Amino acid sequence: MIKYIQNHLGVKLLFSYIAILIVIVVVMLIVIPFSAPYAYNRYMMASGTPQPGMGTGMMGQGQNQGGGLGIGRGPGQGQGLANFRAGLALSLIYAMLAATVIVALVSVFFTRSVVAPLREMTLASQRIAKGHYDERVKVNGADELAVLSDNFNQMAGQLEGVEALRRQLIGDVSHELRTPLTAIKGYMEGLMDGVFPPEAETYQQIFTEADRLSRLVDDLQELSRVESKAYALELQPLDFSIFVETAIKRLSINARNRQIELRSNIPAGLPRVVADPDRITQVLTNLLGNAIAYTPDGGSVTITASRQVENVLVSVMDTGIGISPEHLAHIFDRFYRVDKSRSRQAGGGSGIGLTIARHLVEAHGGHIWVESAGDGQGSTFAFTLKTVG
Ligand SMILES: Nc1ncnc2c1ncn2[C@@H]1O[C@H](COP(=O)(O)OP(=O)(O)OP(=O)(O)O)[C@@H](O)[C@H]1O
Ligand SMILES: [Mg+2]
Repeated sequence: MIKYIQNHLGVKLLFSYIAILIVIVVVMLIVIPFSAPYAYNRYMMASGTPQPGMGTGMMGQGQNQGGGLGIGRGPGQGQGLANFRAGLALSLIYAMLAATVIVALVSVFFTRSVVAPLREMTLASQRIAKGHYDERVKVNGADELAVLSDNFNQMAGQLEGVEALRRQLIGDVSHELRTPLTAIKGYMEGLMDGVFPPEAETYQQIFTEADRLSRLVDDLQELSRVESKAYALELQPLDFSIFVETAIKRLSINARNRQIELRSNIPAGLPRVVADPDRITQVLTNLLGNAIAYTPDGGSVTITASRQVENVLVSVMDTGIGISPEHLAHIFDRFYRVDKSRSRQAGGGSGIGLTIARHLVEAHGGHIWVESAGDGQGSTFAFTLKTVG
């Protein structure tokens, strides 16, 4: 019961109103018996009526009653009634004044407990609006205001996270752009100073860096599109083997050049999946491209699909360099690369491909994850797609 009262602001307010009412009644009960007889006697004296037994408040009350009983019985008693009324009104005014002071004190106490957190939140939100994202408010108790304060803090925490991410993104993007730009500038300066010979190989290097730059810009654009969901997903029921054929066709030349065997193991009778063909081909091409890029010459990459309860589980398994446990949790993060220098040499990966793949799979209502026994042990990337029906 007490917990219920503590957790509900409405009930607390109701109880505070009742408390104020009780205070008013109690104050009036205390003040009236003391002040009424004195007020009555004062008016009786002022009107010249004799006052027997004026010594104490109790005697005064007796006199008061006598005046009341004599109404309309003799001369001067009408004046006595008027005096009695005036005396009662005065004593009520005293009682009201005393009650008002006490009620004001009580309500200041109750109001402060409601207004203080609201004021604190107002100040905190003004500071957050000015960019102080670390601002938090105190959470007292468990009523609706406490819940609001807690939600406010959570919102502030999320804003802080988004702001940190934004800063990190700007830092990462400028870093990624700077690398090829510095290389291009270096080659151009070398050409101008005559350090590099003006021959095909130098131009090729410049072209490679410019190409890297333009791929990075394309990837960033794609990343921003998938992260903000600024694309239409055209879902339709499809046979999964079509995606596999398309992806294998796209990457078979890469695999052949590296003597990597590309295998697929798609069982017959697999249920159709609900997917946007372009987007899922993009995911599969990404995973297959990585598997080939991070597998030494002569290795193999296998795509398998199997039926689960309401999903089709797809996995891309390679016999490549593998991923050590400390990197596994971050592999889908933006710009995350296990070995930055290595991926640059191996064709300039920017660490965006898996982030895009994760967004696309999740937009289809599926999950994507990676398993690897560690360095040199190969990796398996797997994802799920919902089946029709
Ligand atoms: N099959 C794999 N085997 C081992 N490491 C992998 C594999 N796939 C991805 N990785 C690691 O995960 C990192 C992130 O992969 P991701 O595809 O996001 O980026 P990337 O390949 O470096 O660049 P890009 O954005 O061009 O694809 C890679 O840099 C690599 O270190
Ligand atoms: Mg990649």
